[in-house]
Amino acid sequence: MSGGPVVSFPFHRKALEPMTPHDIDRLLGEMTLAEKVGQMTQAEKYSITPDEVAEHGIGSVLSGAGGNPTPNTPDAWADMVASFEDGALRSRLGIPLLYGVDAVHGNTNVYGATVFPHNIGLGATQDADLVRRVAQVTKQELLATGVRWDFAPPVSVPQDIRWGRTLEAYSEDVDLVTELGVAFLRGLQEVDGADLSHPQAVLGCVKHFLADGGTQWGSSGSPETVEEIEHGDGSYGSIPGAEEISEERRRLLEEYEEEFGELYRHGEWGQRIDQGDAGFDEAELRRVHLPPYVAALRAGARNVMVSLSGWRGTKLHAHRYLLTDVLKGELGFDGFLVSDWLAVEYLDPDYYKATVMCINAGVDMVMVPHEWRQFMEALLRAVETGDVAMERVDDAVRRILRVKAEMGLFDGVRPDRTSLAGFGSAEHRAVAREAVAKSLVLLKNDGVLPLARDAGLVYVAGTAAVDIGLQCGGWTIEWRGIPGGEIPGTTLLQAVADSVSAETEVAYDAAASFDDRIADVGIVVVAEPPYAEMTGDRADLTLPPEDIELIGRMRSKCDTLIGILYTGRPLLVTDQLDQFDALVTAWLPGSEGAGITDVLFGDLPFVGKLPYSWPRTSDQVPLAALLANPDPPLWPRDHGLRAVGAEQESAEN
Ligand code: BGC
Repeated sequence: MSGGPVVSFPFHRKALEPMTPHDIDRLLGEMTLAEKVGQMTQAEKYSITPDEVAEHGIGSVLSGAGGNPTPNTPDAWADMVASFEDGALRSRLGIPLLYGVDAVHGNTNVYGATVFPHNIGLGATQDADLVRRVAQVTKQELLATGVRWDFAPPVSVPQDIRWGRTLEAYSEDVDLVTELGVAFLRGLQEVDGADLSHPQAVLGCVKHFLADGGTQWGSSGSPETVEEIEHGDGSYGSIPGAEEISEERRRLLEEYEEEFGELYRHGEWGQRIDQGDAGFDEAELRRVHLPPYVAALRAGARNVMVSLSGWRGTKLHAHRYLLTDVLKGELGFDGFLVSDWLAVEYLDPDYYKATVMCINAGVDMVMVPHEWRQFMEALLRAVETGDVAMERVDDAVRRILRVKAEMGLFDGVRPDRTSLAGFGSAEHRAVAREAVAKSLVLLKNDGVLPLARDAGLVYVAGTAAVDIGLQCGGWTIEWRGIPGGEIPGTTLLQAVADSVSAETEVAYDAAASFDDRIADVGIVVVAEPPYAEMTGDRADLTLPPEDIELIGRMRSKCDTLIGILYTGRPLLVTDQLDQFDALVTAWLPGSEGAGITDVLFGDLPFVGKLPYSWPRTSDQVPLAALLANPDPPLWPRDHGLRAVGAEQESAEN
């Protein structure tokens, strides 16, 4: 790397006074332009080596969902993270690295992690203290892997449940999102009353700024634009060149590529909502989408991720007014803004132009994630030609260094690996089990819940009753989860078998092809297939024919039918409702299926309330259409029955 001599004072220090703003300015003064650009670069671990981190003074490395080491163990993670951190310390100035991951429902890239319900389920609990404890466990399991930066909490306020990220958001209600988002952030960042400088604190990332949940159906961009941006061949751009990629992961990424390619070729992309545009006015933007950020900043947020969506025709990554004037100016945010995945590529087919737009809008660190050399070259050129001012680069780097200093990274302290002992522990799983129990929403109950343990004959049907991959959903081990995969935890079938009396017989068949006997109780699990982001967008929220048939078959095989939904959003079940004696939505509960039976069998009460309105018909979607519709929804937000013996009453009473 070009540049001056090695500085005479160590920026990576032990037990010195905390870095002052003056120290940061001094450090900035020692840095070459290339080193500054390096700090603004975040590469994906598959695309960069620790030596390259050292050579280019890279500021951050991430594991995108599924960016796992082999073997996928906490220890191998901690070694991997440490190897990149060591690389940064070998750079000319030894500026420490920040390693980031998506731990959006537990540290779920890692095999054996405690997998919590997705945020939609936590929203149903309306329990901020529980959400804080969920974040604390997540933090422990992150620290066990050496990671101190979590790309969470999402504080999206989805207004259209067809969006494939509805599951990641706590609610359609901004107040609930604000309360729970702040609780999660505090759980990550605060340790025993101390701030981020505590070595056991994890930096949160409030995302995606702004109004990612407010985009309109059909506004995701024309397929032509997407094709151009995706290097003209419809490629997802995520197969890295690094050799260490496993065969299994390569196969998966190839599948993703093929699927995205299909979408682009058929022009379907432009009919979707993820990464689309929000068209409403500024008053609505500020009323519905801004409040969680205001509150999070007050609660100590130091990092915000920019949304891949747009507002009134301008992509957020190019939105100087919202990023710089509103967030950094009006709201006084002096932490740093990180871009989202491939954001520069998405901005404009001209990479140089896109880079200039993005940095000038106010983005401080760019999640490249693969073509980091291309990004560094573009930004270097932009500063040399004056398209990006040196002051803007200095401002970005100062923000990044400030947060690193606040986290004590310059003091050389690393998380204590003894927290490995708690990874996936019974204690952690008890919190997840509690979260599952509290997240269940009893939608309908004709006096049949709770169930008796000596039910006689119990039939269980639906693949999801035995498939923990479906129970956990997307963002688990891999980006779009691992249906059929192995994840330590308890399935619903196991939990039912563990709950009933010795005399009760439990029989399972995925398709409900049971013998001629009629069961006393039937439990049928209907699940959405796992998804994440774009391809999780879904125009039609009715149940697929095979699920409708399954419910019908099960109905004929039992006296009492209990339906359990595993879903990342309300589904249209109006036409099936009569067939159920009781219907429960368990959202995407995660690894602890016993949390469901704790409530089904009456050890714990139903307390969950709907975080989203539940439409009766497809013309009640999105929320604005529901509000304009003369008919009420099937169930309003906050609906949730309680099961008290054979009686029932509304939880609101
Ligand atoms: C998502 C972000 C995530 C990032 C890194 C993106 O595709 O939009 O929410 O943090 O990937 O995995």
